[in-house]
Amino acid sequence: MDLNLEGKKVVVTGGSRGLGRAIVDQFVAEGAEVSTCARGETGLSEALRAWRGAGGTVHGAALDVRDSAAFRAWIDQAAADMGGIDILVSNVSTRLQGSDEAWWRESFETDFLQHARAVEQALPHLKSGRSPSIIFISSIASVLTNLPPDELAYGVMKAGLVNYAGQLSARLSRDGIRTNVISPGPIHFEGGTWDAIRRANPKLFEAAARLPQLGRHGTPEEVAKSAVFLASPASSYTTGVNLRIDGGAVRTANF
Ligand SMILES: NC(=O)c1ccc[n+]([C@@H]2O[C@H](COP(=O)([O-])OP(=O)(O)OC[C@H]3O[C@@H](n4cnc5c(N)ncnc54)[C@H](OP(=O)(O)O)[C@@H]3O)[C@@H](O)[C@H]2O)c1
Repeated sequence: MDLNLEGKKVVVTGGSRGLGRAIVDQFVAEGAEVSTCARGETGLSEALRAWRGAGGTVHGAALDVRDSAAFRAWIDQAAADMGGIDILVSNVSTRLQGSDEAWWRESFETDFLQHARAVEQALPHLKSGRSPSIIFISSIASVLTNLPPDELAYGVMKAGLVNYAGQLSARLSRDGIRTNVISPGPIHFEGGTWDAIRRANPKLFEAAARLPQLGRHGTPEEVAKSAVFLASPASSYTTGVNLRIDGGAVRTANF
């Protein structure tokens, strides 16, 4: 199936590793042009070398999405570099440890506000994009109530993101912009959250592997393929969807 992504202009936040990197990999393989960002210059440079070595046209900048001025300027720069924005994949999250008011504020900033900031800044570009769409990367933490204490704020913000996406879908459909969410379950990759848990707490890692009906952690590629399909013109009649890529971990009928 042709996803019709050849030459599409795509912004992916947090593309230097993990799910974001796998999403950029898939867009590059489909012939899209990508702009991505991350805080760490070393990881970003290594990823840019790999994509460009594979023939991809990928732009990258080191910045923190919590820095409103820098983040907004970068989105406009991405549009200038690529000649527009057709697709926004808002992927960044940073699990923060804490329990006080400062932690709630930081969590709001990192796991909610910067997504709204990205949309606000990208919107004028998306409105003149071709088959425009927005994808948010949430989490099944948005619906689970048995999360560990340090994921309390994370789950709340991810739930807010799903509602935000639904409301955006209703508002932006009249401009032809589709808005969808991907909610991954436990995803294992070298250097990721579940890799750290595997080494520090193998019992918790194994318990998480038993949670999905498929009996294992997922891979970044399994999330990325669904995210890129949902973002693409091949999904032209799909908006307002929250697609769980969790191996069946959330055991509810998904009406
Ligand atoms: N891994 C899982 O099991 C899982 C499960 C459910 C949902 N998710 C969701 O999937 C998304 C990606 O998760 P992941 O596991 O791939 O995360 P990750 O390994 O921590 O990668 C996050 C990416 O975002 C960048 N980043 C983090 N904070 C940033 C900031 N403040 N400004 C700019 N860039 C920033 C990171 O680079 P720098 O650190 O260099 O900035 C990196 O490129 C997140 O939304 C997460 O909540 C993941």
